[in-house]
Amino acid sequence: MARIRTAVFPVAGRGTRFLPATKASPKEMLPIVDKPLIQYAAEEALAAGAEKLVFITGYAKRAIEDHFDKDHELEQELEAQGKRDLLDAVRGIVPSYASCIYIRQPAPLGLGHAVLCSRPVVGNEPFFIHLADDLIEADEPCLKQMAQVFQDREASILGVETVAPDQTDKYGIVAARPVEGRLSQVDRIVEKPKPKDAPSNLAVVGRYLLTPGIYAKLETTGRGAGGEIQLTDGIAALLADEAIYAYAFEGRRYDCGSKLGYLEATVEYALKHHNLGDQFAAYLAKLVADRLRR
Ligand code: G1P
Repeated sequence: MARIRTAVFPVAGRGTRFLPATKASPKEMLPIVDKPLIQYAAEEALAAGAEKLVFITGYAKRAIEDHFDKDHELEQELEAQGKRDLLDAVRGIVPSYASCIYIRQPAPLGLGHAVLCSRPVVGNEPFFIHLADDLIEADEPCLKQMAQVFQDREASILGVETVAPDQTDKYGIVAARPVEGRLSQVDRIVEKPKPKDAPSNLAVVGRYLLTPGIYAKLETTGRGAGGEIQLTDGIAALLADEAIYAYAFEGRRYDCGSKLGYLEATVEYALKHHNLGDQFAAYLAKLVADRLRR
């Protein structure tokens, strides 16, 4: 059984939509209740079997490295104070079998270029790509669902979701024909088409399982939408050589790259939080009741 050992997290983007919050700290460190987005990302990849976590970083992203590093001083303090739960939470961020690797993207040339930067550590194996902005809540973590499909198909798989027809210019959009259940086979993929040019409204949402064939394609991918080297264009080139599948994952996605999506995720995760949920639900219920009374 082919195991997907590596997950790539492109985290070099500046996160301008959240300025000024993201001026000096990475957007991937924005918390949903008490965990930063990038930790949800790492946990999803680990649950899918990854043991090598590769972060493609850039300017002002040091906090991500610090987050996944051991903090002896903090651990000693929590231990001395008998704060067992917090100590476990801090120690459990990455398990000891996993390694974190950081590669700096030398210039903001786009997602395709960021992925190409991972080539020296991924090598000739299939790998995951996870965009932390897209937070997916699912009974079975999304990348794990995709890894299971890979066992059958041994081909690249894109995590997709149907979006509103007027939203196609925010996503990579695929034209695909149904195969079975949640799976379809990709015929075409285009980056951020205008609604009138879009081949469908099936959007790629930040989860990819790609064969290493993508690297040779990205080497020769020129600048595309927005003047950047687009992963979508590399995938379009790979389609000429290999079958690629679109997988409509089970779960709910929050677009945490937008303020509204981020707030929705915050509220919903808070409602489900193990020791905060009930209190928060009571607070929200009262807030809404007060509003309606006005
Ligand atoms: C990127 C990709 C796009 C994909 C999207 C998913 O766009 O280029 O193909 O659909 O992520 O979130 P971005 O959101 O970085 O503009």
